Amino acid sequence: MTPGIRPLIAGNWKMNGNQREAARLAEALRDGAENADLLICPPFVHIHQVAALMLGSRVAVGAQDCHAAHHGAHTGDVSAAMLRDVGATHVILGHSERRTNHGENDAAVLAKTEAALTAGLIPIICVGETEAERLSGLADSVVEKQLAGSIPYGFITAGGIVAYEPVWAIGTGRTPTERDIAAMHSTMRSALVERFGPAARTTRLLYGGSVKPSNAVSIMALADVDGALVGGASLVAEDFLAIAKAVPE
Ligand code: PGA
Repeated sequence: MTPGIRPLIAGNWKMNGNQREAARLAEALRDGAENADLLICPPFVHIHQVAALMLGSRVAVGAQDCHAAHHGAHTGDVSAAMLRDVGATHVILGHSERRTNHGENDAAVLAKTEAALTAGLIPIICVGETEAERLSGLADSVVEKQLAGSIPYGFITAGGIVAYEPVWAIGTGRTPTERDIAAMHSTMRSALVERFGPAARTTRLLYGGSVKPSNAVSIMALADVDGALVGGASLVAEDFLAIAKAVPE
């Protein structure tokens, strides 16, 4: 944890759930958590419904992606302004599944992040190395390059959030050692402070990749880990709330 930062536990529902399941999961989270802010990111089609259910609660609602343009001829895409209009306050950008499945590079993530900021959404930019990159000792340089290439000016002051998600830890049940997570978060903090100044000392740095109730206590206790981005375990209300409870007081 970073002193003075209220942690954030964010749920990335990915492409899961029908309307009924989305509503049931959202309702089970409505009371929020004691020591952390909660954010849930349903698939696009459920955002309107889930945001309406969460009105007046302590749980924020976000999206998993947005287009870089405000509007126009972009078949199948959704703009940041549209997401804001239906009640989203946050958007995950540059998730490794977007980078891999849709060929998104740092420049694309930068453009989307700028669009999110313009629309008044808080971006959560995901970065992280592949297993081959870690094994070759390139993890730090890969993440530093992603940070440098995808974060625009204005991000820090708007409350932008960074999530460190090693690609090989996502959905695999494997996590880096606590030492490696802490080291990467410290590297990210230093890179952000060097570029953006002291304001970046309170930027939330989330860890993501196979976070579950059984490992959350030790991960959330690490320096510079200000919350978690949770995939699989965010689909089970009990598990998601247990992760939020793992945050130290
Ligand atoms: P996971 O996914 O918790 O299922 O590993 C994390 C993510 O992709 O954000």
